[in-house]
Amino acid sequence: MHDFSIPSGQSPDILYNDLRSAARALTDGEPDGIANMANISALIWQYIPDLNWAGFYRVIDDELVLGPFQGKSACIRIAMGKGVCGTAAATNAVQRVADVHDFPGHIACDADSRSELVVPVSKNGKVIAVLDLDSPLPDRFSAEDEAGITALIAAIANSLG
Ligand code: SME
Repeated sequence: MHDFSIPSGQSPDILYNDLRSAARALTDGEPDGIANMANISALIWQYIPDLNWAGFYRVIDDELVLGPFQGKSACIRIAMGKGVCGTAAATNAVQRVADVHDFPGHIACDADSRSELVVPVSKNGKVIAVLDLDSPLPDRFSAEDEAGITALIAAIANSLG
């Protein structure tokens, strides 16, 4: 169906522009948030190098519940405020962690993870999910990655729930 060609070695702004266009094309006109999360996690996995996990946790009854993802099987439920994901959801603030070993309460779903970027997904001012990216490389995520992923989520948040 959709075949996106992804040249390697692109600058981050071009990569994130392309990723955002592809994500818009994939979610356009599709109302099912879970289907869209599944495609977006697959797209991120294709586009962004050096990840060992990419996916969503959904806020259900004031708890985070594992959603569509790519990578190894992961923790199913995370309490609000716990770990990197729970902190992002509880505070509605991006968490960019250079070394997860230094983050108090980090939840190690995959022992290979060394750095992490978690971006809240808000709809009508309410956090409905978080997008979690993990890398086996320390300090993998730059300020440009944070800006690119934040803009991606802002562009498609209405399609995610
Ligand atoms: N490390 C996360 C848990 C989710 S897994 O990495 C997929 C955290 O501390 O919230």
